[in-house]
Amino acid sequence: EMIHEISGLTEVENKLKKILGVHKVIVVPGNIDEDITVLKEMGRLAANYIKTLLTNNSIIALTGGSSVSQVVENFPKLSKSNVLVVPARGGMGRNVETQASTLAAKLANKIGANYKLLHVPDNLSQEALETMLNEPGIKDVVESISRADILIFGIGRADEMSRRRGLEEDKIDELLSKGAVAEAFGYYFNKQGEIVYNTPTIGLDFNDVSSIKHIIAVAGGKNKAEAIVATKINNPNMVIVTDEAAAKEILSFY
Ligand code: G3H
Repeated sequence: EMIHEISGLTEVENKLKKILGVHKVIVVPGNIDEDITVLKEMGRLAANYIKTLLTNNSIIALTGGSSVSQVVENFPKLSKSNVLVVPARGGMGRNVETQASTLAAKLANKIGANYKLLHVPDNLSQEALETMLNEPGIKDVVESISRADILIFGIGRADEMSRRRGLEEDKIDELLSKGAVAEAFGYYFNKQGEIVYNTPTIGLDFNDVSSIKHIIAVAGGKNKAEAIVATKINNPNMVIVTDEAAAKEILSFY
């Protein structure tokens, strides 16, 4: 609180909250692109906030990525034996260390919770996806995901994420020409916040996101400012945990 007062970040948080129409904005001093400790601090503040949202029967769905990874790393040890942690969506071409499934298992171990995994290869055909959805083991996980009351997710730039995810060149060209600037849980958004592409995988359905009780986006760095603004999930309960660099860049757009 003290640091916030001194650096004037409380004002920045309040302005952003109004502009973006979200429930809460938490801004960490600094720039994650220049200082790795800022990323850690973002994770720590997000973790502390999420801790206050946990109930006995919470279901936490989370995505992969370096930002959510820091939330997990900085989560305090708890013993929440009735909590369930699940990956928000399957696959999606990640280093195994920061894949959603890995992070789900890690977080579950930290907080004494249970976890379920969703092993789905990337870039499956529509037929293969439908077949997988009918597998009882997968159906069960997808059903748990649809009942999540807490969603923790990263936001990426569309150009960066489409490459990181190993999309084919013509797919990348197609989504960028459709104006994609942001990516979150496999959905690509244009500047207006409209979905222009959906990664073919299974798990969280975008239509369900608007009714999840607590939605926490963790994303910072000046170059993600546009992507953060574009990620519209139409849920007034959304909370954004970001850094000063992204926050100030976003304010400069208005
Ligand atoms: O979907 C976007 C990514 O989760 C962002 O990943 O936190 O490693 O930048 P990152």
